[in-house]
This record gives sequence, C-alpha cells and structure tokens, in this order.
Amino acid sequence: MSTVRTAVLPVAGWGTRFLPATKAIPKEMLPIVDRPCVAYVVAEAVAAGIHNIVLVTARGKTAIEDYFDRSPALELALETAGKRDLLGEVVAIARHAKIISVRQQEQRGLGHAVLQAAEVIGDHDFAVMLPDDIVDGRTWDAVGNAKVETGSSPALGQMLDVYAETGGVVVALKEVPNADTNRYGICAGIWVAADRMKVERMVEKPKPELAPSNFSIVGRYILPGSIFALLREQAPGAIGEVQITDALAVYAARGEAHGVIFKGRHFDTGNPVGLLDASLHFALHHPVYGEATRAMLTKHGQPGG
Ligand code: G1P
Repeated sequence: MSTVRTAVLPVAGWGTRFLPATKAIPKEMLPIVDRPCVAYVVAEAVAAGIHNIVLVTARGKTAIEDYFDRSPALELALETAGKRDLLGEVVAIARHAKIISVRQQEQRGLGHAVLQAAEVIGDHDFAVMLPDDIVDGRTWDAVGNAKVETGSSPALGQMLDVYAETGGVVVALKEVPNADTNRYGICAGIWVAADRMKVERMVEKPKPELAPSNFSIVGRYILPGSIFALLREQAPGAIGEVQITDALAVYAARGEAHGVIFKGRHFDTGNPVGLLDASLHFALHHPVYGEATRAMLTKHGQPGG
C-alpha cells in the first residue's frame, strides 16, 4: 500500500499569460471542453488513490474551492428539473476529493509555494502536481475506442508504482528539444530501466549549452516530508525564486531520486497555444463532442473556413 495520501497543488500564480481572461477568474478554472483544467489534475490524483488535495492558493482563487465543494442550491435546482445525470456529476466532484486550502501570501517560487503545505503534510511523503501539466493516460484502438493502458493512472499512478519500490524522490520525466532546457528542471543520471532514471543531478532552467541532458521534469513529484526542512533554509535560485529543483538536487546527490518516463499524452496548458492543443485533444476524443469537433476541423481546414 502506498503511504502517499495527499497531493499539493500550487495554484497561487497570476496567470499572466492568459490575461485578460484571468483578470477575474483563476487560470486553473479555464475550461478544457466541459470542465476546468484543475479538474483533470484532481481526477488524476483520485485515479491514483489520492483523495486529499492541498491547494496552495492566493487572493482571487476561491472559485477553485467552490468548484470542489457541494452546492446545495444548484443541486436542488438540478433535482427539481429532473437533470439526474448532471446532478450526479456535480455531487461526485465534491465527494471524490477532500480539499484543504493554505495561502501563499507572497509569491517567491515553487519551492516556497510547496513549503506553505508543511503544517498540513507534517513528515509524511506526499505528491506535488502542477496544474499546468495535464496528462491523458488513455490510448485508442483503430476504431477510436479509448482504453487505459497504464493500469493505474496517468503519470502519478505510474510514479507511485516506482515509489513503492524505491521510496525517496520520484519525478516525472519527458525528453525535450535541447533548445528548450532553459524552461524546465533538467535531470541527468543512470538509466536503470528503459523508462526509469536513477537521477544523479538536477538543475533548474539550465541554458542549453550547460544542460546535463535534455530530460525535463514534468510537474509531478513524489517527495519526502523531510524536504520542508531543506526548503526552509534554501536561498533563491534560478530567476531569483526558491526552486523545488534545488532541494531535489540534494536527494539526487545522495542517490535517493528517480525519474520516470510516463506513458500518456502530456499537455503544457500554461500558455494559450498549449491550452488550445489540450482542448482539441480532449474535444476530439470526447464521447459527445468528438464528431462535431472533427467536422469543425474539416470546415476550418478549407479555404475561407
Ligand atoms: C516548474 C519547475 C520545473 C519543471 C516545470 C514543469 O517550472 O520549476 O523544474 O520542469 O515546472 O512544468 P515553471 O513551469 O514553474 O517555470
């Protein structure tokens, strides 16, 4: 049995890449088809058996908490209107995840955001999920039927399987073009299986010419509670922020960190093009809207479409 019970989701950011849309709503509430981005990430946690979600939040972000809460007035209205399916779905959202919020009063980087969860987590091992990173673990057969290939859950479930063997730190990995290493945490080490690296070095946002590899960290981490002591003492690193990667590098140097190349389609929804990419993907594979989306793409692909 996994000892990881809680996932921390840092959601305090301004979402400046999505202004003006994010002037009045959190970027985590921007929709992909019919549900907000953050719902895909919480669903991934739940599929991996993690039901406690700590939101590291900030002023103006209460819509996220409301989304995962019960809504008696809405439920009554749906019940009265006989909309049983929608009612079931709305109630289930609040049942599957237990939400705890902590505030990040100043934005001093990802490491600082995670540190805000210290009192809630104590010395337990825990997961961190960055909601910009969305993973679809399904694959499709020749006639378009979806099946879940991973057996557990997109990314996080696969990482928990590795963690059950290794303990310590586990991060999700993805190969990126050499020119892009300065956008990510980068890991280097020894491949102990085709999809598993024993990480020896981690560097945050290295310039391509200084990067030790081109395997980047995707926003999924399993971390030991001992990381909080390191984060409390840690000086700001890359771009003047307290970086989680710098704390993880300590575990890597001790041989206590692994990276997993996960199965599944990954989307970086932290920018409008990435969100569009994810939206098209989930719309094309949506049981209700898939066909209409394909027709729309054909229309838009034609001159004057
Ligand atoms: C953060 C992490 C970085 C990681 C990335 C994944 O960077 O600091 O190590 O590779 O998330 O999305 P950010 O996207 O906040 O700049």
